Amino acid sequence: MSIRVRMTAIVAVLLSMLLLAGCGGAATPDPVTPPATGGTAGVLDGSTLVDTVCTKCHSRDRINQASKDLVGWQSTINRMVSQHGAVVTTEEQSAIAIYLSNR
Ligand code: HEC
Repeated sequence: MSIRVRMTAIVAVLLSMLLLAGCGGAATPDPVTPPATGGTAGVLDGSTLVDTVCTKCHSRDRINQASKDLVGWQSTINRMVSQHGAVVTTEEQSAIAIYLSNR
């Protein structure tokens, strides 16, 4: 076997290794990364929020007993914020109102 043939064989092996490496990468995609969301929007769980934000001054029973539509809950939560000093972001208020009106 001449040196030239041997070199060609080595180049062929190297090339196929490169190709395989490329294909291997395509066949095993990176784990799906969750899309970035602004702040906590989109991942807010209404029930958990009620437990953490709304039970500081009264029990959850008080909330569970009430039945209101979306607008009713929005104005109730507004009252909790403006009159009683509840600390809750706008995003959290929406998530809570949507959750409570859909129970
Ligand atoms: C800083 C204290 C405080 C926090 C925090 C708070 N509340 Fe209240 N809540 C009150 C007080 C005081 C009352 C009784 C006076 C009134 O109804 O305005 C009340 C009454 C209520 C009532 C019964 C009256 C009605 O309108 O049906 C509901 C329901 C209620 N709150 C829901 C909530 C929800 C939902 C949250 C979370 C977003 C919350 N509260 C957070 C102080 C608070």
